[in-house]
Amino acid sequence: MDFKQLLTQAQNDLKQVSCEAELESWRIKYLGRKSGLASFFKTLKDLSDELKKRQGQQANEVRQQLQEWYQKASQQFSNSSTVSILDYTRPGKKITQGHLHPLTLSLRKIIKSFEKLGFLVVEGPEIETEYYHFDALRIFPDHPARDMWNTFWLDSKNKTPSARKTKKDEEKLLLRAHTSPVQIRYMEQHIPPLRIISPGRCFRYEATDATHNFQFYQVEGLMVDEHITLAGFKSLITMALKSILGDNILLRFRPSYFPFVTPGIEVDVKIAGKWIELLGAGMVHPDLFKVVGYENNKWQGFAFGLGVERFAMLNFKVDDIRLFYSSDVRFLEQF
Ligand code: DAH
Repeated sequence: MDFKQLLTQAQNDLKQVSCEAELESWRIKYLGRKSGLASFFKTLKDLSDELKKRQGQQANEVRQQLQEWYQKASQQFSNSSTVSILDYTRPGKKITQGHLHPLTLSLRKIIKSFEKLGFLVVEGPEIETEYYHFDALRIFPDHPARDMWNTFWLDSKNKTPSARKTKKDEEKLLLRAHTSPVQIRYMEQHIPPLRIISPGRCFRYEATDATHNFQFYQVEGLMVDEHITLAGFKSLITMALKSILGDNILLRFRPSYFPFVTPGIEVDVKIAGKWIELLGAGMVHPDLFKVVGYENNKWQGFAFGLGVERFAMLNFKVDDIRLFYSSDVRFLEQF
């Protein structure tokens, strides 16, 4: 066997090797069980003792040399960039793509439909003062209306709600139970005409069930101008609700009570033969205009507050509000 030629050929071949797969072919060709070298070792026993010794030794040296080259080359591949070890023939790995949460989808739909009607999106704080959350909205201490908002009070200086003495007592803090305080905050800073919605998270101290959670999203709405009427509100909210829930919906407006509006109303939608409450609303109480320092008898406005989960449940036919907060991917993957 011409060992010299074998080595030259092996070396030349190795120069052509450009990936791990090719190196493996090279190894099989020169060092594998069916290689020339391996066959040579098998014929060794037929040779005379002297030849056996000489050629056997040579063959061993050749094998060592080949193994050395192989090791070096394979080391090079494992150190070098991934490009050279990419196997383009392997089937691709499926990439799972993220998506928006159903509540985000519903919230965006609601916001968009009001933006189309010229409403500006503004935000208020999740931690509120007793003043903005209650008093400025005519929900006075010790008045039963406060029971409508089961409130998480924060551990601040004055512990009992009714112990508050000064008007804008910044010390009494709470987790907001509705987004209505944004009305006051915004009007304090802006002169009408104004048209805003304010989406945000609210918290209530209550037991959870299929339709109640201790946290939820609301979208507050407020429009103030001269000559604003309840009829105007009716037509505007009908337009908005149709663009959110579909053109064929049936709405019902019925009287209700909220301290910060007069008159107060609630809007229901008829779904599968049942009336479902969608939002509270009304004409802004004149006291609120007084509280923010507006000129007397100049402005009228309407306000409304809707629960985002209610819309998401209707839109996606979900029957338990808690699912939105469960982080269960089997649920979330459906949207
Ligand atoms: N803030 C009320 C609630 O959480 C909802 C509401 C009712 C908002 C009437 C309004 C309104 O702006 O006019 O129950």
